[in-house]
Amino acid sequence: MISNQHEVTIKASDLRGILEYVPLYRNQTFVIAVDGSVIECDNFPNLVTDIAVLRSLGINVVVVHGIGSQLKAAGKARGVQLSDVYGNDPVDDATLSLAREVSANVLQTIVDTFTTKNLKCATVNAVRATEVGIISGIDYMNAGRIEKIDFKSLENLLSLGMIPVLTPTAVNREGKVFRINSDLLAADVAAGLGATKLIFMTVTRGLMVGDEKAVAVPLGEAKDLMESRREMIDPRVFSKVKCAIRALETTRTQRAHILDGREFASLLTELFEKVGCGTMIYSDEYQKIRPATPEDASGIYNISRISSSEQNLVYRTREEIEGKIGTYFVYEMDGSIIAFVSLQDIGEGCAELASLHVQPFYQGNDVGTHMVEFVEHKAHQAGFKRLFALSTKSAPFFLQVAKFEEVSPRELPAARLEKYKKSGRNSKVFVREIA
Ligand SMILES: CC(C)(COP(=O)(O)OP(=O)(O)OC[C@H]1O[C@@H](n2cnc3c(N)ncnc32)[C@H](O)[C@@H]1OP(=O)(O)O)[C@@H](O)C(=O)NCCC(=O)NCCS
Repeated sequence: MISNQHEVTIKASDLRGILEYVPLYRNQTFVIAVDGSVIECDNFPNLVTDIAVLRSLGINVVVVHGIGSQLKAAGKARGVQLSDVYGNDPVDDATLSLAREVSANVLQTIVDTFTTKNLKCATVNAVRATEVGIISGIDYMNAGRIEKIDFKSLENLLSLGMIPVLTPTAVNREGKVFRINSDLLAADVAAGLGATKLIFMTVTRGLMVGDEKAVAVPLGEAKDLMESRREMIDPRVFSKVKCAIRALETTRTQRAHILDGREFASLLTELFEKVGCGTMIYSDEYQKIRPATPEDASGIYNISRISSSEQNLVYRTREEIEGKIGTYFVYEMDGSIIAFVSLQDIGEGCAELASLHVQPFYQGNDVGTHMVEFVEHKAHQAGFKRLFALSTKSAPFFLQVAKFEEVSPRELPAARLEKYKKSGRNSKVFVREIA
């Protein structure tokens, strides 16, 4: 048993601080991956209380549990030579059989503890596994990988106020059981559900690089660390960071946290205090946005041609786009342009955010909002005082989401007003004062 070493208490006045976050997090989904070693420590009931606090604030929670520590102990007690502990190595029959048994016990502990805290949970067969197979000549036997996750079932449970609890074993189509890695499962569940946070509860203080704890790490830096400092990072934490990166590379999951599950209230401290207590890895949207290059011109042209045929964007010829390519920024994902925007100097200390377009499949994932914030930041850096945007169909986006203000076209700089009149589009004009 690991003792609860860092007992602290929460004052009633702290509730004020917490309440500030209520509107921010309400209806969001957090996926919490809990290591087996956390479930067996004294602090686990306290962690479940923290989860109950999250539920009471309207946050949806999914729990994915591990079994490594319990499996190790059972292997030792029964004299079984384990071929794998954490679901990363080849899994022989004896190891799988013990993993199944241990997993059932750990799950029961979770359900029992949730029951004592009045939390509704449900174990759910939402994961279909398939074999890892043979890698570099090594047969991984009963080690599985995730083939499919039934997100609809998870969402249905969440909508009923239940906490789905997922285990690190799953079956394939034929009912054959496989051992899967719980960190990876948590990452894929977070990405697929569009969870805002993926939280790993483990038994280290966070991402330690040697003796130093990384507190807030942008995604790009986390990737660099994984390559350049691999030997200085605990392999178990390394696996969590790898899974965090996997989830953060989707558009929605923005933050991953690695926390010490032995520490009293670590979950609440991390989420609700300005300076948390573990490691946060965050998706740095700006890193996905880059200045366009001449090679991007034809991609931008093709996308904007379609958008202009729907009257969303002004039609611009390929030559026009090539000529102004230096004003464009693109949002790239897996090598494809999924959004672009242009920032133009329109005189009199004003800039225009023009040609904003997000590919339909990616709309509604905050990409447009990030592009606007990015352009505003660039305009600020360049010394502009006002940022204009003109739109015929996206007024609600600029007003309600991007927080622009609608103004009369007469507010436009003279030369731009002249162009506006000539275009005959009768666009609405929005402006954001640049701080
Ligand atoms: C407008 C546009 C850039 C928004 O991009 P996005 O990535 O979907 O935006 P975000 O995800 O940051 O914001 C989405 C929010 O804006 C709202 N929104 C976006 N376009 C809207 C529109 N035309 N009318 C009403 N609301 C709109 C969404 O409903 C959503 O609201 P919610 O968060 O309450 O659900 C995108 O829809 C687009 O490319 N449209 C076609 C081109 C265009 O009109 N460009 C603007 C002229 S320059």
